[in-house]
Amino acid sequence: MKKTSNKVVLIGAGAVGTSFLYAAINQGLASEYVLIDAFPQAAEGNAIDLSDAMSILPLPVTGIKAGDYQDCQDADLVVITAGRPQKPGETRLEMVAGNAVIMQEIAQQVKASGFSGITIIASNPVDVLTLIYQQVTGFAEARVIGSGTTLDSARLRRLVAEKLGVGAQAVDAYFVGEHGDSAVPVWSHAAIMGQPIAQYIKDGKITQAELDQISHDAVKMAYKIIELKRATFYGIGAALTKIARAILRDEKATLMVGAKLNNIYKNSDVYSGVPAIIGAQGIEQIIEWELTADEQMKMDASIATLKLSVAKAQD
Ligand code: 2OP
Repeated sequence: MKKTSNKVVLIGAGAVGTSFLYAAINQGLASEYVLIDAFPQAAEGNAIDLSDAMSILPLPVTGIKAGDYQDCQDADLVVITAGRPQKPGETRLEMVAGNAVIMQEIAQQVKASGFSGITIIASNPVDVLTLIYQQVTGFAEARVIGSGTTLDSARLRRLVAEKLGVGAQAVDAYFVGEHGDSAVPVWSHAAIMGQPIAQYIKDGKITQAELDQISHDAVKMAYKIIELKRATFYGIGAALTKIARAILRDEKATLMVGAKLNNIYKNSDVYSGVPAIIGAQGIEQIIEWELTADEQMKMDASIATLKLSVAKAQD
């Protein structure tokens, strides 16, 4: 019998975490939500603010409260967004030192709580921190999921859609690799309703140079938003909600999450954005595309960058 009353614990009650939580509550993903934050007032204030909507929300919620790590014990899902946010012009990998320490502490606390559910992580640099969390907790790799290149790919899809005059959801265009500067667009598998993007190039509807510019703009999107409004949070909040919904509703959805690679995509021992099927068991299958030689070379380079950052974090 599938559980109907899910419990979600959010660790990190900042803009990213509460953007996720607000979306999750409005989509009725769980009946109970707990907020944990290093600054208890942030958790308490957001819990009260969100609770005020309970009588107005479209779907019933039994509780939204500030809590502590003991609340993880019987949770179905833990979502981690805690950590220092990116400064203007700062790369995500440049944040690794401080945020790795925070993630190690969180991992130890979640492990100690007896948590046995699934974890989604968005804290940056997310691919590095997801690996650290998985290693410290020892949780099954398939039940520790990074936000990966879900948001990067959403940005790519939007920009291609705007250029071709179609809806963003009609565009299959994805990044693999790092959630960040070295993300790799997989144009060889890009299509609109099964029509390969290569055909759009042949038909003169878009050029490879325009696709390269779109890829560049998608990779740089976070920097632009941070320059304008100091932080990004709605895009990543929506990405986290989509991953959480796929798990809590056992959707078997195909998403570009951060998954542990074990001799797949010609790489191992790293978390990277890859296409995967997400359901109640977490990462239920990783889909291994046949990349072009150029795409594989760029993915290898992206993963090498991630491994360097992991080594730095573990120094
Ligand atoms: C983003 O890409 C900052 O990683 C965050 O929006």
